[in-house]
Amino acid sequence: MKRTDIRRLLEREAGLEAVRVCGWVRTRRDAKGISFLELNDGSCLRNLQVILEGSLAEEGLLKRLTTGCAVAVEGALVASPAAGQRWELRARGLEVLGEADPESYPLQKKRHRDEFLRGIAHLRPRTNKYGALFRIRSEAAFAVHRFFRERGFFHLHSPILTGSDCEGAGELFRVTTLREPPPAAGGENPWAEDFFGREAHLTVSGQLEAELFACALGRVYTFGPTFRAENSNTPRHAAEFWMIEPEMAFADLEDDLELAEALVKQLVHHLREHCREDLELFARWVDPELPARLENLVARPYARIPYAEAVRILQAAGEPFEFPVQPGADLQTEHERFLCERHVGRPVFVTDYPKEIKPFYMRVNDDGRTVAAMDLLVPRVGELVGGSQREERLAVLERRMEETGLPREPYWWYLDIRRYGTVPHAGFGLGFERFLMLATGVANIRDVIPFPRTPRSLEF
Ligand code: 4AD
Repeated sequence: MKRTDIRRLLEREAGLEAVRVCGWVRTRRDAKGISFLELNDGSCLRNLQVILEGSLAEEGLLKRLTTGCAVAVEGALVASPAAGQRWELRARGLEVLGEADPESYPLQKKRHRDEFLRGIAHLRPRTNKYGALFRIRSEAAFAVHRFFRERGFFHLHSPILTGSDCEGAGELFRVTTLREPPPAAGGENPWAEDFFGREAHLTVSGQLEAELFACALGRVYTFGPTFRAENSNTPRHAAEFWMIEPEMAFADLEDDLELAEALVKQLVHHLREHCREDLELFARWVDPELPARLENLVARPYARIPYAEAVRILQAAGEPFEFPVQPGADLQTEHERFLCERHVGRPVFVTDYPKEIKPFYMRVNDDGRTVAAMDLLVPRVGELVGGSQREERLAVLERRMEETGLPREPYWWYLDIRRYGTVPHAGFGLGFERFLMLATGVANIRDVIPFPRTPRSLEF
C-alpha cells in the first residue's frame, strides 16, 4: 500500500478503512493492553495518534518503539474520542523501520535550547520548532518565485563562481585548485597556473549579471546562494546566505521602492495564508508580538526618509547611541532600528545616501553628492533590502569607478551595456534569511539556515 502524508490525513473530511503512514515516534504512552504513539512525518506540525492494541501492544515490540524510532503503520483512520484531535489511526500492522537508542538519542521530550540544537543540526528539523521553520522557509521560497512570475519577471541563474567583486567591499572567498598560494610579487599573472588562469571567487551578489540580462529580457530576478567573508559574528550575518535580486530595465528608484514593498507584503500574505499553524508556533513560543508585527508589515504604506533627514532625526533624538550619528557615515544597526521601531513605527525606506558610502554602480543624483540608493529597514531585523537605480551613463560610471579605485578592464562587459543601448534600470537585493527572521521572530540567523556557515563553523 502507498503511504499517505499525515498532513493529508488530518485534513480529511471522512475516515478511511485502510491507510499506511510512515514517520518518527515522538512519544509513546502505555495503558493496560493499549499504547498510544504520537507519530510525526514532517509533513505538518501536528502528530497523528496511533493506537496499538492486542499483539501490537506487547512488551517486546513496545520496547523498540522509543522516541525517534522510525515506523510504518497500517490501519484505519477513525474519528478520535480524545479532545483536541479529529482523527486517530487504529493500527492493524506495524513495522519498525529504524530503531533509535534511547540512551543516546539527543532529542527527548522537553524543550531544548537553540544553542544545543545548533550542535545537532542534522537532527533539529525533527523538532516542532525547526520542522515548522523549514516548512516556512520552503513555502517562502515558492512565494518568491510566484511573486515574480505573476509580474512577468524571468528567473536568472547567475554564476556562483565569479571573477569580479560586485560590491567592491572585498569580502570575498577565494576559489583555487592550487596547493600553494602563488608568490605575491613579480608583475606577471600570479594565478596563471590556477584552474581559471586568474583570480576566482564565490559570488557576493548576482546583481551585475542580472543587470546584463535585464538589459535584454526586461525584467529578471536571481535567487541563489551568496557568500561573504565578513568576519562579523553577529546574529544577522552569515558567510553563506540566500539573496533575491530583481533587476528591471526602463525603471527608476520609485519603481524599485514599489517592487520591494510589494514583495515583502506579498510574502507575508502568502505565509499567513499557507503556513498558519507553523506561524502560530512562533507566536506562542518564540515571539508573542509576531502577529502584530506581521500585520504591521502589510497594513500601511512604508515610510520614506532621505538619508540627510534620517541623520537629522537621529541627531535630534537625544538617544544615548553606542555609536554617535555621523553625517556622511553609514547608519549603525541601532540607528536603523531606532528609525523604524521608534521613530516611524513601521518599515521605512532610507534613500539618497552620500555616494562615498555606497558602491560604484549606484546612479549619481543631480546634486552630484548623493546616489539613488535605498535601504529598507524593518523592526527587529534592521536592514532587509538594499538596492538602487543603476548608473546608466557611461562617462559618469567610468568616473565613479575611478573615484572608487576600481580597474575598468575586468568590467569591460559591464561598461559595454552602457555603450550599446543603455537604459535607466534599477534593482535590489533582499536577504532571504533576514526576511525569515522577520517572519518568524527568530532572533539569530543561524537558526533560519539549515546548516549555517559562520566564522569558525562549517560542520555538516
Ligand atoms: O545591501 P547588500 O550588500 O546589496 C547587494 O548585494 C546588492 N548587490 C543588491 C542589489 O542591488 N541587487 O545586500 C542585500 C541584502 C541586505 O539588505 C541583507 O538583507 C542581506 O542582503 N545580507 C545578508 N544577509 C545575511 N548575511 C549577510 N552577511 C548579509 N549581507 C547582506
